[in-house]
Amino acid sequence: MEDTSSERRLVLVSNRLPYQLQEKKDKVTIKQSDGGLVTALKSYFEDETRENVFSHKIWVGSADFPETRWQKFTKQKTGQGYFHVEPIFIEPRTYNKYYNGFCNATLWPLFHYFTSYVIYDEEAFAKYEEVNKLFAEKLLTILRPGDVLWIHDYHLFLLPELIREKMPDATIGFFLHIPFPSYEIFRLLHREWKHKLVRGMLGADLIGFHTHEYVQHFLKTVRMVLGHDHQFRGIALGNRTVKVDLFPLGIDYDLFHKAIQKPSTIKVREEIQRNFADRKIIFSVDRLDYTKGVTHRLRGFEKFLDKYPEWREKVVFILVVVPSRVIISKYNERRKLIEEHVGRINGKHSTLQWQPVIYRYSHLQFDELCALYQVADVGLITPLRDGMNLVAKEYIASRSGQKGVLILSELAGAASELGEALLVNPMDEVEMADAIYQALTMSLPDQRHKIAMMQKRLIDYDVRDWVNDFLQQLADVKTEQRMQESKFITPAVASEIAAEFRKAKRRCLFIDYDGTLVPFARHPREAAPGKEVIQLLRDLSADERSIVTIISGRDSTVLEEWFHDLPVNLVAEHGASIKKNGNPWIHENPDDQGWKQVIRPTLELFAQRSPGSFIEEKNHTLAWHYRNVERDLGFIRSRELLDSLFHLIRNASLQVIDGNKVIEVRVAGVDKGVAATKLLSESCSDFTLVIGDDKTDEDMFRALSDKAITIKVGHGHTQARYSIPGQADVIPFFKEFLR
Ligand code: UDP
Ligand code: G6P
Repeated sequence: MEDTSSERRLVLVSNRLPYQLQEKKDKVTIKQSDGGLVTALKSYFEDETRENVFSHKIWVGSADFPETRWQKFTKQKTGQGYFHVEPIFIEPRTYNKYYNGFCNATLWPLFHYFTSYVIYDEEAFAKYEEVNKLFAEKLLTILRPGDVLWIHDYHLFLLPELIREKMPDATIGFFLHIPFPSYEIFRLLHREWKHKLVRGMLGADLIGFHTHEYVQHFLKTVRMVLGHDHQFRGIALGNRTVKVDLFPLGIDYDLFHKAIQKPSTIKVREEIQRNFADRKIIFSVDRLDYTKGVTHRLRGFEKFLDKYPEWREKVVFILVVVPSRVIISKYNERRKLIEEHVGRINGKHSTLQWQPVIYRYSHLQFDELCALYQVADVGLITPLRDGMNLVAKEYIASRSGQKGVLILSELAGAASELGEALLVNPMDEVEMADAIYQALTMSLPDQRHKIAMMQKRLIDYDVRDWVNDFLQQLADVKTEQRMQESKFITPAVASEIAAEFRKAKRRCLFIDYDGTLVPFARHPREAAPGKEVIQLLRDLSADERSIVTIISGRDSTVLEEWFHDLPVNLVAEHGASIKKNGNPWIHENPDDQGWKQVIRPTLELFAQRSPGSFIEEKNHTLAWHYRNVERDLGFIRSRELLDSLFHLIRNASLQVIDGNKVIEVRVAGVDKGVAATKLLSESCSDFTLVIGDDKTDEDMFRALSDKAITIKVGHGHTQARYSIPGQADVIPFFKEFLR
């Protein structure tokens, strides 16, 4: 769909809206929602001061307030920022099963590695699907051609695909704010859920994660669940390529840093300082969540008081817990546990003048939050798992004079950017106690050095850079997709290519065999060339101006058998054996066979476990074919085999190729691109054409991109200049050359 308007609109979707509506005596007021997602996106959305490529921004999310309150509010509201909020009103029972059920009692614990907390409930998943559909319905009433749609977080995994089905050309980005777990964890979900969730995400054009590790986990999950491999983090799906990348979420640095000078913050800060004069302050703030490691943190603090008694009465720990997801039992239990721990520590250590833990269970106003960040000598942020953790970054941004020490869990996404922090294992209370001691006794120059390095990093990639980076990459993916779409050869282009061929004085044709000259058969032996193919090759090579090369993964014996009486070059095993027309075969490293003994047992194991599959041994290749294995089983086994092989061949000079229903292992450094380049360099040509259907042909497309007309047979992402719809179109295409 073409963009017909000059307006550029960004439509952002998340479950949580940036604010909640509260009502008192008929007056409706707004309160900012809690959590990292809202903090990050709200800053960007409310920013009217900077250049912005979008003329409108719309935020769509679920309403956690009744529709009547919304109506009252819209009548009352004056100047609530210039972006537009669109709440979706969802029937409470449905919402409860979706939000407190599948989102926060299934996905949340699973994705944070709390596998024993996960509830597997079919009804909750059905409601999850229902709510995702409600979001889709709402969006379809809002979206216009040319809009950029950006979907956020695990509540809406199914939404990208639901929109894509109705708007195939839509520009859709998806960002996950929580960890994407290892496949070993993800696979615990029911099979149908797994498929739906991954397919749902792949409806997007660009999928973003906080860290490199989450990207890797997701790519492996896509391979294991749906069988799609990736190339440079691009997943080819039909005529669309989905890009996956990392975008570590930044904060609104200025907002926190400038708050150091803000009079309202200074007032709160001075109050706190008066209360705790002469004492060092350790601070943490988290939503109430078992993933945040608050009880472990308290144990670490207790251990510190036990191990370093000289610090008693000299330090206080201000612990703020913000209420969250209170209906879910695991959250409620956590609150009780935290309060028990606080009570125990205070009971054990308090004196008449001193209470070690100052505990508060409530939402913080912005000034209070900033003041606490500013007064804290130590930020103690120790989640057991966290997608990113913005609190850690906000603490760093709030440090004036670059004083202060951050103690950070190595299991928070932020740890991969904040390497100068004292990184701790949050499960290890002794390590935490020692880190607290180290933080409290750290020299000022050391503190300054570390904070300065981290502040610089946060300035260099703040939340605006994050948004711009994501949206720019999304635009680039769309451009790339459009280029791919324009690759299909039209009849006019096909005639032009044929005319160039006829005109040329010297022509080189590199033609793949299986899937290009002939369709795939149940067994490789059955795919022998028919009369029509032989005649075509004979006709093409009859003219002495033409050099035809059949370039295949087949071995030399079978190519010799089929084509020995044709005047063509033969390339076997992707370039490991080459026979130039009229000359004998030349084999690359014929003695280098020792590796086969190492690889073969693994292939045999998979052949035994997958009825219908078999091993083919060629001179330089071992191949495991699974075309005849029951579809699902073949697919699962092939993913498992790939995984085993990747580990097995690490650091060996071998390569694994995930071909069309075949997995091949062969010596590295040999590929069709190398072979074709060599042959081409030996014969000058003013018309070179390369055609093939498989991954191994991409090596030729890449190697000869500036020298040849490159054509991919079939749909899918390719480096080739052109595509041709299917194998059946290949023979007619070449016949035009001979007209
Ligand atoms: N925050 C909040 N309400 C509060 C205190 C803090 O919304 O009462 C903010 C805090 O400033 C931070 C966010 O909540 O931006 C927490 O984000 P984080 O990534 O650390 O964890 P999440 O809650 O998203 O899991
Ligand atoms: C995390 C999630 C967000 C969520 C926030 C607060 O940051 O990634 O999607 O909004 O927690 O949780 P809540 O359930 O209150 O929206």
